[in-house]
Amino acid sequence: NKVVLAYSGGLDTSVIVPWLRENYGCEVVCFTADVGQGVGETEGLEAKAKASGASELVIADLREEFVRDYIFPCLRAGAVYERKYLLGTSMARPIIAKAMVDVAKACGADAVSHGCTGKGNDQVRFELTFFALNPKLAVVAPWREWDIKGREDAIEYAKKHNVPVVATKKSIYSRDRNLWHISHEGDILEDPANEPAKDMFVMSVDPEDAPDTPEYLTIQIEKGLPVGFNGKKLSPATLLEELNEIGGKHGIGRIDMVENRLVGMKSRGVYETPGGTILTSACRELEALTLDRESMQMKDMLALKYAELVYAGRWFDPLRESMDAFMEKMTETTTGEVTLKLYKGSVNVASRSSPNSLYRQDISSFEEGSGIYDQADAAGFIRLYGLPTRVRAMQQHGL
Ligand code: ARG
Ligand code: SIN
Repeated sequence: NKVVLAYSGGLDTSVIVPWLRENYGCEVVCFTADVGQGVGETEGLEAKAKASGASELVIADLREEFVRDYIFPCLRAGAVYERKYLLGTSMARPIIAKAMVDVAKACGADAVSHGCTGKGNDQVRFELTFFALNPKLAVVAPWREWDIKGREDAIEYAKKHNVPVVATKKSIYSRDRNLWHISHEGDILEDPANEPAKDMFVMSVDPEDAPDTPEYLTIQIEKGLPVGFNGKKLSPATLLEELNEIGGKHGIGRIDMVENRLVGMKSRGVYETPGGTILTSACRELEALTLDRESMQMKDMLALKYAELVYAGRWFDPLRESMDAFMEKMTETTTGEVTLKLYKGSVNVASRSSPNSLYRQDISSFEEGSGIYDQADAAGFIRLYGLPTRVRAMQQHGL
C-alpha cells in the first residue's frame, strides 16, 4: 500500500514515482538523504516530488552520522578496494538504506524502492541493508522491471504522466557525490583507453593548474581517528568539508581505475576524494609510529577483507562489526600529529609525532646510543634466525 522511494530529484527517480503508482497502485513516500551531495540539491525538492505524484518528501540530514559512523570506521580500518578505490559510494548506500527502513517504519510502509540499475553494485548494497534491517519489506527495483531504456524513454514517460521535466543541462556522466567523494562513470569513460576530459572534474583542480607553492597541513589524530587540523578541532563532517576544499585546490585525490563489480563485470570509474586522500595518508603515517610490525601486517590483511565487505554492501554483517572492534583496539594508541605537504596532486609526509610512538631515537640512531641495543647481540640473532637457511644450503652442498 505504501512504498518509500530513494529519491534524488533527478529524471530517473522522478519517473519512478508515477511508475510505482501505476504498476503497484501504492502511495509513494519520497526520501532524500543529505550525505553532502552538494548544497542546493535539496532545494525545491519537495514541490518537485509532489508534482511527480509523491504524497510526501522526507529529507534527513545524515552528514555528521555518515562521516562519524561510516566513513571514519573505514578510514581507521584503512579500507581500500582493489588497490585504489576509497569506497565513497559504497559507504553511503548502507546509511541511506538504513534511513529508508526507519522512514518505512515511521510511516507504515511495507515496501522500499530505489533507482539503481540492474547492472551495478548499488542495488546490492541497498537491498542487503534492507534484508539485514527489515527482511519483511518488499523491494521494488524499477530498472530491473520496466521498459524505459534510456533518457529519451524516461522523458517521454515523464511527459505522459505530467512529471515536470526541468531542462537541466544533462550530465553525460553517471555521477554520485557525497562528503567523501564524487564518482564519474559512463560516456567516454566506458572505453578504458580514453583519458578523462579535463572539464569533467568537480571537486579538484587539475594538478597542473594547482598552486606553484606547496601547502603544509597538520592533521590531529586521536585513537586512529582525525579530530582536526592545524590545531583546530572540528566535527567530522566539517573537518572533511574543509579538507576537501584544501585538497581540491591542490589537485589531490584523483583516481582512475578499472574495477571488478560485484555482479561480475568490470567497469571503469574515475573518483575524486581530496579530503579523504589527505586523511588516509595521515592515518597511515601515524600508524607507522604506533603499530608494531605484526599488528600492522594483520591490520592490513583485515583491511583488505573489510574493504571487500563494504564494497559488497555487507555493512551490517557481524563480520564488519567485529572487525571494527579489532580496528578500534588496534588503533587505541594511534594518537598524535602528522604534517603533510600538498603539492600539485601529491601528498607527502613532512613530519609525524605521537606520545605513544614506538620509535626510539636512542635505539635507532646511527650514533652510539643508550646501550639498550648491543650490536654484538646481532651476531647470535642472525645465526639462529638464519639456521634454516644454513641447513638448507648445507644439504644442497652435501655438507
Ligand atoms: N563504482 C563505484 C561503486 O561501485 C561507484 C558507483 C557509483 N554509483 C552511481 N549510482 N553513480 O561504488
Ligand atoms: C547503477 O548501476 O545504478 C550505478 C552503478 C553501480 O551501482 O555500480
